[in-house]
Amino acid sequence: MKAQILGTGYAVPEEILSNADLEKMVQTSDDWIVSRTGIRYRRIAGDGVATSDLAYRASRSALEEADIAPEELDLIIVATMTPDMPMPATACLLQHLLKANSAAAFDLNAACTGFIYALATAENFLLGSDKYHHILVVGAEVLSSVVDFTDRNTCILFGDGAGAVLLGKGEGNNGIIATYLGADGRGSSLLTIPAGGSRHPASQETIDQRMHYMQMQGNEVYKFAVRSIPECAGYVLDEANLSTEDVDYFIMHQANIRILQAAAKKLKIPWEKVLVNIGEYGNVSAASIPLVLGEAAEKNKFKTGDLLLLVGFGAGLTTGAALVRWGR
Ligand SMILES: CC(C)(COP(=O)(O)OP(=O)(O)OC[C@H]1O[C@@H](n2cnc3c(N)ncnc32)[C@H](O)[C@@H]1OP(=O)(O)O)[C@@H](O)C(=O)NCCC(=O)NCCS
Repeated sequence: MKAQILGTGYAVPEEILSNADLEKMVQTSDDWIVSRTGIRYRRIAGDGVATSDLAYRASRSALEEADIAPEELDLIIVATMTPDMPMPATACLLQHLLKANSAAAFDLNAACTGFIYALATAENFLLGSDKYHHILVVGAEVLSSVVDFTDRNTCILFGDGAGAVLLGKGEGNNGIIATYLGADGRGSSLLTIPAGGSRHPASQETIDQRMHYMQMQGNEVYKFAVRSIPECAGYVLDEANLSTEDVDYFIMHQANIRILQAAAKKLKIPWEKVLVNIGEYGNVSAASIPLVLGEAAEKNKFKTGDLLLLVGFGAGLTTGAALVRWGR
């Protein structure tokens, strides 16, 4: 028995923020951003659009593709670090929007590794119990709500979007064949939103000090990413007794094209096998991997039996990987 991907979906807001737009906001240039990150555009949710709205659109597509009605869902997991609000969980808001009245619902925060964490969690629910047959796994973010658009170190990197997969279970070789999850809290200060939690509740002071925005030590995060991608890939490939040559497509968290290039080089992966959409959307954190997956699936890029290697990394520090054989 395996957890299988029965449907995928994604959603991005319409508003586009280009490098030219950012040139008017902070001291930067299209040249610098493209050469250092590979990013040209990001999508911005805009007023009144929250994470659950994007999650809803992505989820509807995944459900339709899988031909599963919302009432058939047993569980909804939303991976996000930008929930609509601290309470209730965005997964409950999504459950309400979908009218998925039989589904349990919770959020999971593993930052940019969130989707891999949610996928592995869903797999365990599906295979570990008779109670769960259909689980909706969503990665959704409105990062523009926590990006400081006066800070050129961070504001060029991030965008908004959502991706979803519908997981069911089936016999045979296809589905999730290995997962790995890791965390190293020693690096927790490298990437943070310092205020808005119990350590620094919202106050005039936290607002004045811009502590509700993302803060990042870019160089350190970069090194961590390039180190951890091959490590995580190795763990799941070893577990499945496979090698990088067996992989048809690599879907890595889209943080910086140079990170993807360096990791591909270390793993000796031909660049044609690496799926990339960072130029269009920037870093969408937990939505990044399911967004790549959803776009590629929509273009019918994968055929039954293709081996996909998904690798995530992010704040926490967290890392994760999943090896998936495509198809039911
Ligand atoms: C953020 C990042 C793009 C910076 O690229 P970099 O090549 O490491 O650049 P540096 O930080 O060394 O900065 C080089 C110079 O460019 C400047 N710079 C930084 N941001 C800039 C911008 N947007 N535009 C123009 N110049 C910029 C710096 O101030 C620095 O100038 P200095 O040499 O005069 O001090 C890169 O470190 C990165 O992608 N890190 C990982 C971030 C990430 O993925 N986070 C999420 C993980 S899930």
